[in-house]
Amino acid sequence: MLLRTVVPADHPELLALWARTPGIQLRRDDEYEPFVAYLERNPGLSLLLEHDDAVIGSLLVGHDGRRGYLQHLLVDEAFRGRGLARSLLDEALARLARLGIGKSHVFVLRDEPQAMAFWEAQRGWQRREDIQVFSVGS
Ligand SMILES: CC(C)(COP(=O)(O)OP(=O)(O)OC[C@H]1O[C@@H](n2cnc3c(N)ncnc32)[C@H](O)[C@@H]1OP(=O)(O)O)[C@@H](O)C(=O)NCCC(=O)NCCS
Repeated sequence: MLLRTVVPADHPELLALWARTPGIQLRRDDEYEPFVAYLERNPGLSLLLEHDDAVIGSLLVGHDGRRGYLQHLLVDEAFRGRGLARSLLDEALARLARLGIGKSHVFVLRDEPQAMAFWEAQRGWQRREDIQVFSVGS
């Protein structure tokens, strides 16, 4: 199992992984150009897992200079329950910490019970009762 930094050439395999994983919503931002722009804006942060040359896990990692933001954390079904999501998270937070980013957020859809249960179970992560997210744009 190899955990490594995402590069633009990983896009087709990542897109296929995201598309076949229930619970992941694909958006225009997942198309090639915005994906590459995101990687350039957040160099050396997004991560993937490779097994036998196949991409089986991902975590998109960015920051705004103050806070980190995580998206598309997923592990292919056959590889779940082995601590792989944890290893992606640990590596992402370590890389953010090296940039001076000590606090990160993840936005989780309330109607995705498996994802909610995962985040509820993560040590150190707190569900925020004091914040409501407002968004504009598509
Ligand atoms: C959520 C997901 C990434 C977990 O991947 P994983 O590799 O199986 O997770 P890990 O094995 O690293 O688990 C880490 C810890 O979380 C716990 N955990 C894993 N999945 C869980 C779940 N669905 N509910 C509750 N706890 C869970 C594990 O027991 C483990 O706890 P421990 O460290 O105390 O033993 C994976 O199930 C997945 O890809 N789901 C679909 C996509 C998704 O919902 N992603 C989240 C979007 S925000």
